[in-house]
Amino acid sequence: MAPARWWRDGVLYQIYPRSFGDANGDGIGDLRGITARLDHLEWLGIDGIWLNPTFPSPNDDWGYDVSDYNDVHPELGTLEDLDELIAEAGRRGIRVLLDLVPNHTSDRHAWFQDALSGREARYRDYYVWADPAPGGGPPNNWLSNFSGSAWTLHEPTGQYYLNQFLPSQPDLNWWNEDLREAIDDVLGFWFDRGVAGFRIDVCHAIVKDSELRDDPPAGPDEHPEIVKRGLKQVYSMNRPELHDVLRRWRALAARRDGDEPVLVGETYVLDLEQLVPFYGLGEDELHLAFNFLFFHCDLDPAQMRPIVEGMEKMLPEGAWPVWTGSNHDGKRLATRWGGGDPALTRAALMMLLCLRGTPFLYYGDEIGLPDTPLDPSKALDPVTHRTGDPEDNRDVCRTPMQWSAEPGGGFTENGPHPPTPWLPFGDLEAHNVAAQREDPGSVLHLVRDLIALRRERQDLRGGAYETLPAPEGAWVWRRGEGTAIALNLSDAEVHVEGVEGTVLIGTDRARDGEAVAGPLRLAPGEGVVTGRA
Ligand code: GLC
Ligand code: CA
Repeated sequence: MAPARWWRDGVLYQIYPRSFGDANGDGIGDLRGITARLDHLEWLGIDGIWLNPTFPSPNDDWGYDVSDYNDVHPELGTLEDLDELIAEAGRRGIRVLLDLVPNHTSDRHAWFQDALSGREARYRDYYVWADPAPGGGPPNNWLSNFSGSAWTLHEPTGQYYLNQFLPSQPDLNWWNEDLREAIDDVLGFWFDRGVAGFRIDVCHAIVKDSELRDDPPAGPDEHPEIVKRGLKQVYSMNRPELHDVLRRWRALAARRDGDEPVLVGETYVLDLEQLVPFYGLGEDELHLAFNFLFFHCDLDPAQMRPIVEGMEKMLPEGAWPVWTGSNHDGKRLATRWGGGDPALTRAALMMLLCLRGTPFLYYGDEIGLPDTPLDPSKALDPVTHRTGDPEDNRDVCRTPMQWSAEPGGGFTENGPHPPTPWLPFGDLEAHNVAAQREDPGSVLHLVRDLIALRRERQDLRGGAYETLPAPEGAWVWRRGEGTAIALNLSDAEVHVEGVEGTVLIGTDRARDGEAVAGPLRLAPGEGVVTGRA
């Protein structure tokens, strides 16, 4: 069995810093606003937080365009504010993870500004430059993930630079050893300040084919996301040489005194054969690799269970799964999985917190917050404007945390004329922390009680996963020797077997404590954890 580590046993929580708490009343969330809300996270039972980028940035892609890796965005606060957040979180047993963006910088980063000055510039080779194709035009067929060619011509020097996202996010050249060392220093800088690890942005993409070969066309049987793109990204990203970099970072983390910092990859690949290698031999590459195949499933056991079983079978010794249902790109689980049905949202949260692996909650998941409907033509997110697809507006899952139903939502200053938040609130009355804290039947209390149950029961943390037989639309599994989880994700009543014991927690809290001696009836959308009390 894998040894206990805080990030294996714990529950992690993703915070979008602009949207958690606004301490200085300018309508933008900031680091001091997060510090002010740490008591909520401690009360909930959270062990670690991942902050979306906190670095100086022109915000073309809301922080994912970093102009200085070793500082804090002035809108979010100062280095001292971050030190204080880390210290205050530490006092509550909460670790802090930052978001490392090693694939690209902002075009305003000093390295790129220098690179633009000429072909011989000191930092030119920190980026991926190529001559035009023989007949003119971009060097190859690579596409930006934000639509259009991935190449931008820099006329003064006559070469194209690579940008797999916005043209103002030039890709770094990971074949350059100085660049590798410079990013090592970034890791060290933050580890020295007490950061407990990193989520690594577009981790699968950083190393490109050294020959810049064309990506091949997508076949009709590929994952729908790949068919939609039209190309299989086997040369522009997902290179085998990437694993050298991951081993380098893991070794760097392992050399630190104290708890080894944790590396969590945004490993955006869409089959398990590609995902599993991010764990290397088990303990020499990423600690955790986000599972986007699972994330993109419907809330349907026929889709999800094979992925969980596949991970159980394929993960090497020592590797550990990670499960999440919401994030700042792919939208919120209450909408994607719950589809407006609060019972399904509760069942989905029970699932995430009871699978074998580390769950990541996204701020607002604990109150069942759905996406906020917004007009895409007014989006602050650049992606929907570039693709023209209203579905690509990521603002809907980045709106401010809803702490209370007061005019400022508890997010920013209250009072009759609260500051306008940077993005509008969703329905404050329908979902807010203050009201749910008063209601023991709320989704907030369900999440808190599930987290507490995980802490109490070794079965739910380290116990082996085993699928049990279940009627169609239901998913039943055992954890360890003495705990079972039964979820009815269908719209019909079902009866499940093999879950004898006591209901430890039901999504319908009226069932807590119920004795289960034979088949257990579950209403549509209902879930229970049972076991020896
Ligand atoms: C990752 C981030 C996303 C960002 C992109 C480019 O996918 O999660 O928000 O736009 O990388 O950095
Ligand atoms: Ca602020």
